[in-house]
Amino acid sequence: MSVKIIVGTQWGDEGKGKITDMLAEQVDLVVRYQGGNNAGHTVVVGPNTFKLHLIPSGILYESVQCVIGNGVVVDPEILLEELGRLKEQGVHVTPDRLKISTIAHVILPYHKFLDSQQEEGRSAGDKIGTTGRGIGPAYTDKISRTGVRLLDLLDKEGLKKKCEAHNWPQAFQDRLSIDDMVDQYFELGQRLAPFLEDTSLFVNDAIQAGKRIIMEGAQGTLLDVDHGTYPFVTSSNPIAGAACVGAGIGPHKIDQVIGVTKAYSTRVGEGPFPTEEHAEMGEYLRDKGCEYGTTTERPRRCGWLDMVVLRYAIRVNGLTEICLTKLDVLDGLKKIKVCTGYKWNGETIKHFPLDPKVFGESEPIYDEVPGWDEDISGITDFDKLPVNAKNYIKYVSNLAGIPISMISVGSKRSQTIHLLERH
Ligand code: GDP
Ligand code: IMO
Ligand code: MG
Repeated sequence: MSVKIIVGTQWGDEGKGKITDMLAEQVDLVVRYQGGNNAGHTVVVGPNTFKLHLIPSGILYESVQCVIGNGVVVDPEILLEELGRLKEQGVHVTPDRLKISTIAHVILPYHKFLDSQQEEGRSAGDKIGTTGRGIGPAYTDKISRTGVRLLDLLDKEGLKKKCEAHNWPQAFQDRLSIDDMVDQYFELGQRLAPFLEDTSLFVNDAIQAGKRIIMEGAQGTLLDVDHGTYPFVTSSNPIAGAACVGAGIGPHKIDQVIGVTKAYSTRVGEGPFPTEEHAEMGEYLRDKGCEYGTTTERPRRCGWLDMVVLRYAIRVNGLTEICLTKLDVLDGLKKIKVCTGYKWNGETIKHFPLDPKVFGESEPIYDEVPGWDEDISGITDFDKLPVNAKNYIKYVSNLAGIPISMISVGSKRSQTIHLLERH
């Protein structure tokens, strides 16, 4: 038996999709436990690029079953579109391969409407830069105990009652009447019905049977609604602790927590980012790293690796190892900066500051390490890396205090250096 959680240690887009796909080769089950189609996980297999939003990144192996857990918010239309796109790309997902929790909450049209209204209503400094996918409003309804769950889509009368109870504003109902919405969502529910299951029971049975399982997080630690840079966060808990809640398993079932860390930092959307590079360096990283959102195609803000953030992610997730991704993007740099602490108001800060004012005003303290000229994107053996690339990896691992188990040097499966034997 082995249950591994994969989490992003920064602001999302660390390469969780690639790492999940890599590790999925050796597992039986991949489970998504939170978030919704705000996520965009890219997996490159041979000539094909798959952009996954809701379906776990294990789906590309026929032998792997996938689960969308109760902690995920599901937009039924988007999920069916994603299944359709996968089919066009030659991946036929049957109900045997994909189980969706009957009690996962549904993103309704009103949630998307409200998400964009709220974002438009925020003044310049308060905008969050959400993905506009209705994530925040759907989780708000869940916590308010007024949400619609997937099983509710199967009962047309009950669904109508739940929707009417909301008293959605006329401006919204003029666009889409409740009757039309109920017809549409009942129909979507019928199409999803074969996939619906008690996924907590399914996952626990799999654990009992000794199956190997990956729990795939979306977003990243600094976007966590509790532990992230609130209010510039998403509306769920991406951190490892949430995997138990979002899948319905006990904490003692977890064996490993794997953090996915980009060799530099990116952030899409608004909010503080101390190591952000605004000028040429930021543009260089964006171009070289193709840092444009998988979901919204927005340019990602780019900057240096921040060890204050990484140490915090190690703590709040209880990470046991790190997969370092996109190291190839640093090829050709004379010097590489790594933030080891912050200066704020004359003080030196070593731990992630919880006060947003302090984090927002923190100035990074940098170490500079020598870079390398070589193109490392074809190297699969640690010993063959340029000496300065090896030194950079050792330096990050020493500062982190936990092992780096895998290094990614390109988006393809083959562009990976394994530093740890897995069983
Ligand atoms: P996720 O949301 O954490 O799954 O990450 P995304 O898929 O949104 O963004 C990561 C992007 O980087 C994708 O386009 C990947 O194909 C790509 N990628 C992943 N690992 C590497 C790597 O090691 N090097 C390079 N150059 N690209 C990578
Ligand atoms: P993956 O899983 C990067 C960001 C949005 C915005 C904030 C809130 O691909 O790493 P939301 O729509 O969730 O209410 O937006 O969170 N965000 C992400 N940024 N990667 C993601 O997912 C993200 N999902 C949400 O840009 O700043
Ligand atoms: Mg992404």
